[in-house]
Amino acid sequence: MYEQVSHSLLNVILDDLKPEIRRQDLRHFYTRLGANFYAIYSLFFTLYGHRDDFNAQMLRLVETMAKGYIDRSAELERVDIAREQDHNWFLSQKWVGMALYTNGFADNLADLAGKTPYFQELGVNMVHIMPILQCPAGKSDGGYAISDFRQIDDRLGKLDDLRLVVEEFKKRDILLVLDIVLNHTSDEHEWARRAINGERRYQDYYFVFDNREIPDMFEQTMPQIFPESDPGNFTWNEKMQKWVMTVFHDYQWDLNYSNPEVFIEMLDIILFWANQGVDILRLDAVAFLWKKIGSSCQNERNAHLILQLMKDCCQVTAPGVLFIAEAIVAPVEVIKYFGEDAIIAKECEIAYNATLMALLWDAIATQSAKLLYQGLKNMPAKLERATWLNYVRCHDDIGFGFDDNDIRAAGYDPYAHRQFLLDYFSGQFDASPARGMVFMRNETTGDARISGSLASLAGLEAGQEANDQALVDAAIKKILLLHGLILSFGGIPLLYNGDALGVVNDYSYRDEEGKSDDNRWIHRPKINWERAELRKKQGTTEYALFNAMKKMIAIRKETSAFADFNNRELLDVDNPHLLCFLRFNHQRPSERVLVVANFDANPQYLDLYLLRSRGIDPFGQFIDLCSGSKPTQYDRRIVLQGFRFYWLTEI
Ligand code: GLC
Ligand code: GLC
Repeated sequence: MYEQVSHSLLNVILDDLKPEIRRQDLRHFYTRLGANFYAIYSLFFTLYGHRDDFNAQMLRLVETMAKGYIDRSAELERVDIAREQDHNWFLSQKWVGMALYTNGFADNLADLAGKTPYFQELGVNMVHIMPILQCPAGKSDGGYAISDFRQIDDRLGKLDDLRLVVEEFKKRDILLVLDIVLNHTSDEHEWARRAINGERRYQDYYFVFDNREIPDMFEQTMPQIFPESDPGNFTWNEKMQKWVMTVFHDYQWDLNYSNPEVFIEMLDIILFWANQGVDILRLDAVAFLWKKIGSSCQNERNAHLILQLMKDCCQVTAPGVLFIAEAIVAPVEVIKYFGEDAIIAKECEIAYNATLMALLWDAIATQSAKLLYQGLKNMPAKLERATWLNYVRCHDDIGFGFDDNDIRAAGYDPYAHRQFLLDYFSGQFDASPARGMVFMRNETTGDARISGSLASLAGLEAGQEANDQALVDAAIKKILLLHGLILSFGGIPLLYNGDALGVVNDYSYRDEEGKSDDNRWIHRPKINWERAELRKKQGTTEYALFNAMKKMIAIRKETSAFADFNNRELLDVDNPHLLCFLRFNHQRPSERVLVVANFDANPQYLDLYLLRSRGIDPFGQFIDLCSGSKPTQYDRRIVLQGFRFYWLTEI
């Protein structure tokens, strides 16, 4: 859009740019800047227009984008242009992700580069390497308390080692995902140190208060993230003699985005990592970016404006780079992190589907898909050029954050039902084979979450310990069932390190300083590569899981109906144990797959007669894509054994 005020400011800015920027060939940059400038200006003005130094900050913003563009390699620019042309590239079913800690998967980054054949063997072609930047030992929150945003942690390697990973990945067409921790820094970051030493400029990077007056006002409406280990949202700093906002751990200082300098610093960091060859940036804890007294300080409108501005700016410099939103919030809120535009995502192209994740675990515990169905039915539709990251487990805890109305509609009382889930997964419930742990119980609200590895939550650990083959088999089936759903749901499936090998809980964190008060470490294992060799030995659990997943991944990639073009229809099949949906090719709707999963331990049947309005012949013949065989069918019913799922095509 052409708009006079912003355009004349743009002219001034272009005249004021430093000579070294002016001299460069910046054709593509200027084209994109022109196209996005009005949006960038408007957002920046809404956030910072009241400040005297607005124009000067705006100039710095443009300089930061230009500098980022000048540093971008010719090769990355080619990628940018190719992705601009094929702008729906990430909606394809061809992508399958995995998240891992460098030192949980390998010894360090160089060793990880050498282990890339493993990803290819399984079919994974998008790898989220969890935070690798410098963190103080023992006060790192698993890498999310960063003390230098441009330095790789010594224990993991150097920038050259990351380059090795980038090269290996490029050769094999694997996408690299890295974290940008936007919301906070470590208290040992240079900005925090200078704030502690009394520099006003850096105190303004954070939320710093002389006394409890304002912190107390904030506390009235702010929930607590780590109530057991880090109660409250503020920490007293002795040396500075001030209170600092620390929503997560007491050593994680929240950044203050009402200061444009903070925004520009973080944009510079985003562009720095984009220029290292990162394909996708995972923006951590985005729901928390804006703090307002009287609110929960989550999902604030200005948090969305910050993300829109980040996106618009990144698009000018590095348009091929995508953002993942990590916003583990209520279903109606999550959807907003794609942006507000009717068609194009204007914030993050990808978002964690925490709703699906929590609902899947509910279905495992209840052996019923009632709430899962209800929750999915009410899941708001997303934008067109946007997709989910569908996952079963990740490095964080599981929160049962589904909508209370959905819980009621499924016939449960919200409070009692959540307590049941906590009991079920922490093994308090007699009939449960799950071996999880309660994470961060809040004594005031009764809230809590669950830690535990996929395998242990599914009953594998209990089964192996008791030498109970039936329990082991049931766990294997549940693990495959859950993956059968995230691989076919629509979006990018994200596996978690160790899950394709059935790696169970790791209890060693209990003896490690800096970890023992955070039981999320129970599900952040280190792969034992000798044991992983068992994936090649028939008859082992590793073999059963790994090979089934490998096959499912390969089939997903071939099945165009599994691409994500809002081409899913949820089906009501009048059997509470089953989840059933139809996926179809958005251009050729006759190419379709009927996905059906049985969460019950007992056999259940799907009455095809109920699907005739969808054009499905109740007496038709089907093939299950995964096994290549026909499902058991009698009359007009398809029978599913306990914990079985099918990807059915009509023949
Ligand atoms: C994100 C991370 C989590 C971390 C938190 C604070 O939610 O996934 O591991 O504790 O941010 O940085
Ligand atoms: C993030 C997530 C929350 C999680 C926390 C720590 O804040 O939103 O669900 O519990 O990080 O892992």
